[in-house]
Amino acid sequence: MIAPAIDPTALKGGITAGLQIDGRMLSEAWTEPAPERAPIVDFLTSRQGLTDIPDLLADLAAKGHELLCPGSMSRIGIGAATCGLAAGAGERAAVLSARHDFANHTVVRKVGCIGACFCEPLVDVRTPDGRHYLFGKVDKSGTWPIIHTAKEQRLQKGAWLVLREREPGFLTSFDDLLVEKVINHDLADFFACQRRLISGNCGLIDPENLAEYIATGGYFAAAKALLEQQPADLIAEIAASGLRGRGGGGFPTGAKWEMAAKTGSSTKIVIANADEGDPGAYMDRTLMESDPHRVLEGIMLAAYAIRVQQAHIFIRHEYPLAIRRMRHAITSARAAGLLGNNILGSDFSLEIGITTNAGAFVCGEETALLSVMEGKRGEPSRRPPYPAEAGLNGHPTVINNIETFANVPWIMTHGSARYREAGTAASPGTKIFCLTGDVSRSGFVEVPLGIGVTTVIEKIGGAPPDPIKAIQIGGPSGGIVPYGSFNLDYETMAALGGMIGSGGLVVLNNACCLVDLVQHMVGFMADESCGRCLICRDGLARLEQLLHDLTEHRGNDATVSAIEQLSHAICNLSLCGLGRSAVHPVFTTLRFFRQEYEQHARGECPAAYCSALIRLKIVPSRCTDNQICYELCPQRAIQLDPGRGPERYRFDHAQCTRCRLCLDSCPHGAIVAVSGEDT
Ligand SMILES: Cc1cc2nc3c(=O)[nH]c(=O)nc-3n(C[C@H](O)[C@H](O)[C@H](O)COP(=O)(O)O)c2cc1C
Ligand code: SF4
Ligand code: SF4
Repeated sequence: MIAPAIDPTALKGGITAGLQIDGRMLSEAWTEPAPERAPIVDFLTSRQGLTDIPDLLADLAAKGHELLCPGSMSRIGIGAATCGLAAGAGERAAVLSARHDFANHTVVRKVGCIGACFCEPLVDVRTPDGRHYLFGKVDKSGTWPIIHTAKEQRLQKGAWLVLREREPGFLTSFDDLLVEKVINHDLADFFACQRRLISGNCGLIDPENLAEYIATGGYFAAAKALLEQQPADLIAEIAASGLRGRGGGGFPTGAKWEMAAKTGSSTKIVIANADEGDPGAYMDRTLMESDPHRVLEGIMLAAYAIRVQQAHIFIRHEYPLAIRRMRHAITSARAAGLLGNNILGSDFSLEIGITTNAGAFVCGEETALLSVMEGKRGEPSRRPPYPAEAGLNGHPTVINNIETFANVPWIMTHGSARYREAGTAASPGTKIFCLTGDVSRSGFVEVPLGIGVTTVIEKIGGAPPDPIKAIQIGGPSGGIVPYGSFNLDYETMAALGGMIGSGGLVVLNNACCLVDLVQHMVGFMADESCGRCLICRDGLARLEQLLHDLTEHRGNDATVSAIEQLSHAICNLSLCGLGRSAVHPVFTTLRFFRQEYEQHARGECPAAYCSALIRLKIVPSRCTDNQICYELCPQRAIQLDPGRGPERYRFDHAQCTRCRLCLDSCPHGAIVAVSGEDT
């Protein structure tokens, strides 16, 4: 039972009869002076605008704060999300955790991903003075500087970046950290233009520790909602924030919630869509692995707003760590009374379950997802009715993406007006992008919507601007648009014929053949088609074949026309978003890079990539006559005339399979691929 909404100081020693709490007289309850509350608890309570705070949250926030900022001890946080573990974080964690000499001065915790996937394993050493030393690419030998920094509590060689808590001992988000010293510019530049509204805990807190999440203000928004707000207040706040669904379509979240809330049904359901099938996108996975309670709190707030008692998280089985961490979060929230009946003493009850899915791309489409959850084949169905009106087993069902839910606690804590300070009028807030491809700093970046694409790719990603040809945005059904000075928001991307989609952002340089890339993307979508519509099932397969013809030198101008016509037919006649959007890469490349298709039709590949359209050549000025290519060629396609010098190298083009072994192996870059007239 929570304390009543009365100022306890006014009661001390004063009241002797009447009011009871948990069967005890109020006077008994307050005869002992109330223990001092940790300053962090007061801060979080007042930030949330709570008139009173449940004891449970106060206790856990204080406990979590001691773990995050452990007094005179150092804290080592090892990035242990999928990216960190793949790079060896597990071994580094085992070594550091086993050190007996840490007992009195250092704690070791596994944290999530701070986003800088390019420099994993990444380790954060926090010293008692509120400094954070970030060490990137920590190999076996790299653990020693970490150990010394933790023990001696000052900077040692090997750190990349030193951050300082704005107020030492006070840490509720990544935004509380200031850059103090830049040793290696990569990390500082990577963080410089980001705004971390929803990923502020990622890489700082232990995702398997409920108290640490609460110490950052976690579940305070839920407490305020459940104890002091009406469901309609939440819907109004989310609508006012302008939050748009992050699962691809960008539908206004407030409107969706309102639609479901207005239905007269007594049974409603919330589903968190964590299917995330787009190659190149891992926003949802990272959020679930790094800050799972934020996702749960977002779901809880949505459920309260719509008066739902049952929620599900739908996760693809390829995400075992995310599944494990979400399960752990549900169990610990339940054990603490943050899920189940009468949460925090309110009249609101909620259960959250997890459904794992085989991992078919089409099952992320909301009607297909519902079909799977009803035990049927994962096939989309016609809309309307929309799931918010009639969804799982006919009940109104709100389906939102994981990142959408992760926005909700921030909005309910800081208010819609502050949320709108980031982003544009029509695309408010921030968006997480997964930056990959031809950049030197790949990773998970959170930026305000409307940010210039060059800022993301050059300043954050560290890509040199010159050789970049295009970006692929929004996964295989997004668009491929020329690199330039446009902004990343829903409207701009729609005007370009692409879409923000779920947030995959792949940088493509001049060495990338777009016709070949589009062929692979269409091939992926053809494989993922559920087969219900003939035009999607057979049309995508035929489209892939036509593109393949172009890359194999079997195409001509008529092939390009056929590609265009078939793409329009697939787009217009497919039932669901998979078929309708599968041709976005074709449309955008035909719009902006049509000459590449025409060149392929003439037998040229401008990127000199398609094997059937290239020949290899020696650049005499670079060749040092070391014979590496001659010795490596499995086909004996490189022949040497008598004598010395580069002039004696000849390619037997009939024998050459264009395996590129010679090209990739020449240390001087003396072998190049050429296409078209150059051959
Ligand atoms: C083929 C296809 C795959 C999709 N995959 C996902 C997915 O993996 N995750 C997701 O949240 N939405 C996905 N969507 C969008 C969902 O259908 C739905 O619009 C979304 O989950 C709604 O959440 P939001 O309003 O928060 O964006 C997909 C749509 C299509 C057409
Ligand atoms: S468009 Fe494709 S994926 Fe969608 S229902 Fe039709 S066949 Fe299935
Ligand atoms: S591309 Fe392969 S087959 Fe052709 S010359 Fe080089 S190594 Fe030989």
